[in-house]
Amino acid sequence: MQNLMQKIISLSKRRGFIFPSSDIYGGFGSCYDFGPLGVEMKRNIKNLWWDAMLKKHDGIVGLDASILMSPKVWQASGHLTAGFADELVECKKCHKRFKLDEISGSKKCPECGGELTKPRRFNLMMKTFVGSVENEAATTYLRAETCQGIYVNFLNVLNSMRMKLPLGIAQIGKAFRNEITPGNYVFRVREFEQMEMQWFCKPSEDNKWFNFWKKERLNWYLNLGIKKKDLKLVEVPEKDRAHYAKRQVDIEYQFPFGWKEIEGVHNRGDWDLSNHSKHSGQDLSYFDDQSNKKYIPHIIETSVGVERILLMFLCNSYKEIKGGRTITTQSAKEIESVLELDKRLAPIKVIVLPLVRNKPELIKKADKVYNLLKTEFVTQYDEVGSIGRRYRRADEIGIPFAVTIDFDTLKDDTVTIRDRDTMKQKRVKTNQLVDILNKNI
Ligand code: GAP
Repeated sequence: MQNLMQKIISLSKRRGFIFPSSDIYGGFGSCYDFGPLGVEMKRNIKNLWWDAMLKKHDGIVGLDASILMSPKVWQASGHLTAGFADELVECKKCHKRFKLDEISGSKKCPECGGELTKPRRFNLMMKTFVGSVENEAATTYLRAETCQGIYVNFLNVLNSMRMKLPLGIAQIGKAFRNEITPGNYVFRVREFEQMEMQWFCKPSEDNKWFNFWKKERLNWYLNLGIKKKDLKLVEVPEKDRAHYAKRQVDIEYQFPFGWKEIEGVHNRGDWDLSNHSKHSGQDLSYFDDQSNKKYIPHIIETSVGVERILLMFLCNSYKEIKGGRTITTQSAKEIESVLELDKRLAPIKVIVLPLVRNKPELIKKADKVYNLLKTEFVTQYDEVGSIGRRYRRADEIGIPFAVTIDFDTLKDDTVTIRDRDTMKQKRVKTNQLVDILNKNI
């Protein structure tokens, strides 16, 4: 199964999904750059999530808070205290650090056998300085979760939008953690994007909404083609929960490297608003004009990392077909790979292929078709190599539709549309192309 990860990593670099950060300098500390295909796929993921939140549900609005916030926010949230730290031991000989749960009680370094130090807590917040002087007073942090920007804006949103409970605030943005043990490619990195929605509700309704959002989020993955057998909900016991969570369910996916969390659904109770009220001196309670009562709203949170689920979608869709399916004559022993991505996730939606390269009339027509499609869909054009090879290159990056311009096109203005998954081809009129593709994507 690790083999599958190697294939995905290699495909991602070769075809422009993901590059190591600062690649020409040998990479940098578990940071990654998203190439032309990766950035399109990330946008698709984010748009689908945004629509699933704001278009599907009443009472959810968006926010884009700044990454840098007052350090007081992180005092109030508990991130600067023990709550957001890993307990680590360090090898006295090779100075490698390990999380306590990685060494399962051993007193010896798993790498070199050296003696280990007593456990110490390491904070995961990334420090920086604001202003020209680098001193304690100028210290702040890159946000470690996007939701704090939502809590400190709760009153601003409530009042400016004249909203009533229950209400949701959704946000997509970068978060940073000085992870001690990053790894598994883009699964755990130090800079990532979170998609978080905070649902503010009556305290007595927290369980109802917790169950609602848990199901809603699970269904989102199923609807995008993740198989039921590869997903599970795990109720996290108290001792393992995040410091703010009264209840926590992790949605886990079966990666090639094991079952791992992809999203957390948390009942944060009144932890955040109560603490921000206390630390800021602002009353963050809500007056409920139906019950004539004032209370601190409780929060149900859904929180997921974009890179992590992008990797999940790649793992889920990568297929190998032995014997070849597009270059049948010379490839009996070849293996062809296909990304069977949901069409909505696919970075490139359609590719335009003139049947041959050496006929100027075909190239001219193909260029026209390309220009027709490129304003509607993310479209690629490819005239290099045999048509079989070009189908194969398109399949490898999950392009759902290939439009081929052949000699009949010149006679009757029709083209063929090939479906990536069934490989079936359909002949359609050029002027119907946009409608047909729109219907199918
Ligand atoms: N606001 C709650 C929160 O941040 P979390 O469980 O720490 O909760 C939520 O993180 C999600 O963010 C995770 O399920 C994962 O998808 C993503 N995430 C967290 N740390 C990450 C990292 N180092 N690299 C990539 N994604 C990460």
